[in-house]
Amino acid sequence: MSGAAQVALLPGDGIGPEVIAAAVQLCEAFCPGDYEFEPQLFGGCSIDVSGVAMTDETLAACRAADAVLLGAVGGPKWDTTDADAPRPEQGLLGLRKALGLYANLRPVKAIEALVDASPLRAERITGTDLLVVRELTGGIYFGEKVRTDRFASDLCQYSVEEVERIARIAFSAARSKVSSIDKANVLETSRLWREVVTRVHKDEFADLELEHVLVDNAAMQLVSMPTQFDVILAENLFGDILSDEAAMITGSIGLLPSASIGNPGGPGLFEPVHGSAPDIAGTGLANPLATILSLAMMMRHGFGREDQASAVESAVASALAAGLRTTDLGGNATTEEATAAVLAELV
Ligand code: IPM
Ligand code: MG
Repeated sequence: MSGAAQVALLPGDGIGPEVIAAAVQLCEAFCPGDYEFEPQLFGGCSIDVSGVAMTDETLAACRAADAVLLGAVGGPKWDTTDADAPRPEQGLLGLRKALGLYANLRPVKAIEALVDASPLRAERITGTDLLVVRELTGGIYFGEKVRTDRFASDLCQYSVEEVERIARIAFSAARSKVSSIDKANVLETSRLWREVVTRVHKDEFADLELEHVLVDNAAMQLVSMPTQFDVILAENLFGDILSDEAAMITGSIGLLPSASIGNPGGPGLFEPVHGSAPDIAGTGLANPLATILSLAMMMRHGFGREDQASAVESAVASALAAGLRTTDLGGNATTEEATAAVLAELV
């Protein structure tokens, strides 16, 4: 890298600022001078100041940056069923869309030291190493929304191009198999999805295995036989739901990182899968590991620094193996202690 990489920092709401501070602290101690962080208001805290979850200024700063690192957005303060009120989540959806980040990668790996922290039986989850590839800028999240006093609707739509490009990302990431998730027995969008994925497979990735799994069945298989999955390819809503479910294989959603990519040359967005956890915000007990692992994904996918990324990931694994347990993992380590424990393995 020539000069420091510019990273737009969106701490957001709830525990967001705490886990982001932990990741920045770790990064600055581990590779000083490589990354420069520029914080921006985003989410509920932005609504409080300017009435919108993402201002033009924040979006411009993200577009101009080399990568975006995000904490979490939302909280009870901004929860409302009023269709006209601003919502923190609009910032997140707007940012993903504006940056063209149609591919969301969510790796889920059973960590050996933690197999007993999962609510699932150790013998079921041991060896799980899967990647959820979630389509991020289409489907029901972005279709037309209608709301009257007595009626509401959300439109789900997908084009052939949208399915093709996310399918290519999934096949390219697979080692052996892609499990494509749909509800083709009911939904028209799913039938198109299935057809397009089948064609991309046949034409471009025939050496890999492809299976189609109905989403309800996939939800069941994820907890009964998670080790059989390699890459799970899913549309936006199904991927959202299945990735939270898959998180429990690691014992806690507090461990799951994600990368949103898709716009060559533009910045990627890196964020933990967990939300803003308002119930523990400010207690100093948030688990920073998902954000630290998202930082690692930023190093890898945003800057090609596989060396830095794998060093951070190994440090997290070593700290856990040495006994690090935050409260979500049944221990009592604070955010600060968890960060220090990872750092101790790194430098
Ligand atoms: C996620 C979150 C978001 C989503 C919310 C906060 C809008 O659940 O990143 O998984 O549904 O995409
Ligand atoms: Mg989610």
